[in-house]
Parts: sequence; structure tokens; C-alpha cells
Amino acid sequence: METQRLRIAMQKSGRLSQDSQALFKSCGLKINLREQRLIAHVENMPIDILRVRDDDIPGLVMEGVVDLGIIGENVLEEVQLIRAAQGQPFAVKTLKQLDFGGCRLSLAIPDDVEYQGPASLAGKRIATSYPGLLKRFFDEQGLSFKSVMLGGSVEVAPRAGLADAICDLVSTGATLEANGLKEVEVIYRSKAVLVQAPNPLNDAKQAIIDKLLPRIQGMQQARE
Ligand code: PRP
Ligand code: ZN
Ligand code: MG
Repeated sequence: METQRLRIAMQKSGRLSQDSQALFKSCGLKINLREQRLIAHVENMPIDILRVRDDDIPGLVMEGVVDLGIIGENVLEEVQLIRAAQGQPFAVKTLKQLDFGGCRLSLAIPDDVEYQGPASLAGKRIATSYPGLLKRFFDEQGLSFKSVMLGGSVEVAPRAGLADAICDLVSTGATLEANGLKEVEVIYRSKAVLVQAPNPLNDAKQAIIDKLLPRIQGMQQARE
């Protein structure tokens, strides 16, 4: 059964969680996120908030399981690249660029290793959760590499002897520093975006979105 309540997915815990929550709050949504529940009901509007792993959000939006999602462009672009390589479409609509979640996808190597441009990584093993974006960068450089796919804890790969370098998101740089790695190349810059499912929504849901978007717009302008 199709619900009349608008469903929005956000990252449960991570770089985007606090800001996503703050965005909802400043749009006037009253949410109780204190409990460890997957779904939180907005008290004063017909909206449900789903809190999931960020990497799951593009799929949930694409399949229409949720109507909207807040996600990093990096994750969106990666899913799009992987699907394109498999000949599959990816029709998620970007509704709004948000003014938080800024980060970069970078190559990093152990502190004590010398770096002389991307060519010094040719043929090396690189651990990443973003094989699509990494391959695009190396293709553009006309270089090859060995992709070591890791869903998480990418930063421990060189120390563990699993890889020579990593390609992961960097925000403050604290994770790299704590793991004896140095950032040597930025391959993608990203911010958070609000995305919508490909199929048109019913009138009730569309009306809520039409109410939310100007509020987000106004808030971001006020912050500029
Ligand atoms: C990214 C990345 C690092 C961290 C870097 O994780 O994988 O773990 O952020 O941030 P820092 O430079 O401020 O230390 P993300 O928030 O995307 O979470 P996830 O790995 O669970 O998807
Ligand atoms: Zn993630
Ligand atoms: Mg991480």
C-alpha cells in the first residue's frame, strides 16, 4: 500500500548525520531521533525519516523505497558510474545542492613513502570503497592499478599489508593522520545533495516537497 507520508532517508551515523538532522529541524520538522529506531515519525508533518547507512541511500531512492534522500555527491556519482559500466540506468533526480557535507575523495599513501605524481602509483594495489571514481581517475591518466575493494576501514589497508595506497574520503584529515597516511592527490570534491526518486509522487507528497524546498532555499541564503 502506498503511504501518504513522505519518506526521507538520511545517514544514521557519520559525517552527514548532524547536519541532516539540523536541516530538518530548521525546516520546522519536529522529530524525536533519540531512540535507536530505524524510522522516526515527524510529529507536525506527514513525514517519516529513515536512518540508514549512507551507501544504501542511492539504492533506496532509485527503487522508490523512500521518496527523498540526503546523500554525498561522491556516493551518488559512484553508484552512477558502476551502474553505467553494467549498462544499467540511474535516474535519481537531484533536487537541491546542500551547503554541508563538504569532503574530498583522495589518494593517500604511507607518510614515509615518496610521491612523484600519479605515475608512481601505476600497477600498485589501491584500497577503496569507490572503485568507479578511482578507475575514472586512472583511466584519465592513462595508468593502470589494482583495485582492492573494502566497504570500510580502508585506512588500515596499507598497514595491514593489503594495499600500497588508499583512495578514501577526507574531511578533516584526522583519519589519515591517525593512520600514518598522507593525502597526495584529490580526485573528486563533494557536497551533500537532496535527491528524489525517479517516478512522480502523488499530490500529497509533492505538496510537502513544494513546502520544504523554499524553506531549505531560504535557510541556505540566510547562511551565505
Ligand atoms: C569517511 C572516511 C573516513 C572519514 C574521514 O567516512 O571513510 O573514515 O570519513 O573523515 P576525516 O578526514 O574527518 O577523519 P564516512 O563518514 O563516509 O563514513 P563511512 O565510511 O561509514 O561511510
Ligand atoms: Zn559510507
Ligand atoms: Mg569511513
